[in-house]
Formats: sequence, C-alpha cells, structure tokens
Amino acid sequence: MKTRVFSGMQPSGNLHIGNYLGALKNWVRIQHDYECIFCIVDMHAITLPQDPAQLRAKIVEIAALYLAAGIDPQVCSIMVQSAVPAHAELAWMLTCVTPVGWLERMTQYKTKSAKQESVGDGVLQYPVLMAADILLYQAGIVPVGEDQAQHLELTRDVAQRFNSLYGDTFVVPGTSLPAVGARIMGLDDPAQKMSKSTTAAGHAIALLDPVDKIRKTIMRATTDSHPAVDFATAGPGVLNLLSIYQAFSNATDEEMERRFTGLRYGDLKKEVAEMVISHIEPFQERYRQIVSEPGYLAGVLRDGAERVAPIANSTVRVVKERMGLYV
Ligand code: TYM
Repeated sequence: MKTRVFSGMQPSGNLHIGNYLGALKNWVRIQHDYECIFCIVDMHAITLPQDPAQLRAKIVEIAALYLAAGIDPQVCSIMVQSAVPAHAELAWMLTCVTPVGWLERMTQYKTKSAKQESVGDGVLQYPVLMAADILLYQAGIVPVGEDQAQHLELTRDVAQRFNSLYGDTFVVPGTSLPAVGARIMGLDDPAQKMSKSTTAAGHAIALLDPVDKIRKTIMRATTDSHPAVDFATAGPGVLNLLSIYQAFSNATDEEMERRFTGLRYGDLKKEVAEMVISHIEPFQERYRQIVSEPGYLAGVLRDGAERVAPIANSTVRVVKERMGLYV
C-alpha cells in the first residue's frame, strides 16, 4: 500500500508564491508516488473573523488553484475540510488529551494573540484541528513550508500521547520540507515571512496577480547596500530573490553561482521577474479555464470528500471505541 500524504491550505487571503514554492509545487511533484489528500481547510480559516461570502468564494478559488498548479483529481483527493465532519469530531477527542501548555507555546498562537486584546478559543485550538486533519487519514508524510514545522511536531506529540494512553492508534507523521523555498520572505521586508494576511503593497506576489504588478513588485524588492550579487556576503533580501529563482527553475547551487555571481541587482531582479512570470502566466491561463466550468470544480470537491470520508469515519470509530465513547 502507498504511504498516505495529507496537506492543506487556508482559504484566507490570496495564495502567493510562498505557498506555491513551500507546499503546492511539492504536492504536484509527489502526487504519483503516494496516496495524496489535499484539503482546503475552511474550519481553520474561521479561527479569525471572515466575511462569509468571501470565504465561500475563496474555497472555490483555492480548489481551482490546486488544479491550475497541476494537482490531478484523478490521482489525488481534493476536498474541503468542513465537508467531512469527522475532522471536527476527532479534533474534540484530541483536544481532551492535549495539555493547554503545549498549545500556549505555539509561535503562531503567541503572534496572533499578541496582536489582539482577546482571541477566540479557535486560535488556541488551531493546531489540534490540524493534528486531527492529519491523524484522521493515518498520513505518513505531510509536505508543508517551514512555518508549519512546529505544528507538525505538536501533531506527533499528540499522536504519541494518544497512542500511549489508549494503545497504538495513529501513524506518527513525518514533515517534508522542500530543499529550496521552504521559507519565502516578504519582498518589502526580508525579515518577515511572506504572508497571506499581510496586505502591504510590495509584500507578496499573489498567484493571481497581473503580470505587470509582479514585475513591479520584484523590481522594487528590498535588497542591500552592495551593488551586485556576492553569494558570500549577500543580505536576506538578495538571498530571498535568489531562492525564488532557484525554487522556480530547479537550478543547482553551482548553476546559481555561475549565473548570478557579479550580476547587478537590477539585472538580478529582471531575471527573477521573468522566471516567475514564465511559470505564473500558463498557471493563470489554466486557472481561467478551470473557473469557467464551475460544475466541474464542484464535482471534483464532491468526489474528493466522498472518497476520503470512509477513511476518516473509520478512524473516528476506532478512536471512539478506544476512548470508551458510545458506538
Ligand atoms: P497556510 O494556509 O498558512 O499555508 C499553506 C502552505 O504554504 C506554506 N507557506 C509557505 N512556504 C514558504 N514560504 C512562505 N512564506 C510560506 N507561507 C506559507 C505553509 O507552510 C503551508 O504548507 N495550518 C496550515 C494549514 C493546515 C494544514 C493542515 C497543513 C491545516 N491543516 C494539515 C498541513 C496538514 C496553514 O495555515 O497553512
């Protein structure tokens, strides 16, 4: 039997090249080697306030972006989290075995709660729902960007704790990070991770941004005070541009050094912009075709949920039995 892979994205904000290079590109690469489930995690999105109509539109947009990136729905299951109620059921059962202290230590919780006077309990519970997503399907591999690594450690801790309390139940999943592109930084500020929730102009390149805007954003990206590329001394802004180029092109380290050493930053930016655009243009074309057939997308999501629900329900049944709930 093939190892199962599970991963997902939140339908909040616009997907950007960090999401693509950190996760989606890898999903496409491995989809034929594993049994893959790719989820749109709408219940994670509502941990922060969302406009209902916008959220519903985003769910469909993300599904279309998965397909446009090259995820094949004949081979993988593409599904919406809330369409399979077992995600919420298992999350509750796991909540009951997760110490609050583990959750309060999560960087994402600390950052999100620091920004507001008070946050909903969902922000604290967020990683437990994520653990449920993964453990429901006994996934062995979870391909994500670096910012999710801490949540995956927590998932492993929760799985191990449950297994030791109630007997071997869950596969303990491994994290799979891409060699290049695991953490793409903001183009306006290379000290900050590129983020869907940052709306500052010049911060991110969204996958659906017009080509002119992409070019402008890259040409204005923050670099450093050197005039040209020197791999030994390059600052974080230049390294970020180089990573973006390398992740899109799959160039080796040697090829990168040969091509870019000594190149002036203006020319580096032009090359990066052309590389990004050469990938994003055909991607956007496929996206437009996919959304022109809404019935097709709805069918993909329905099939995906129908395919995975029996796996999820059987895990919930086992967990209920182990915990002594009524079955
Ligand atoms: P989300 O929606 O924030 O991000 C989706 C994926 O994109 C990666 N990513 C990045 N990679 C590189 N550079 C960046 N700047 C960057 N920003 C985001 C993320 O690491 C992620 O892989 N909690 C998850 C969603 C989730 C999930 C899951 C993932 C819910 N359940 C189960 C895996 C398995 C999240 O908010 O991702």
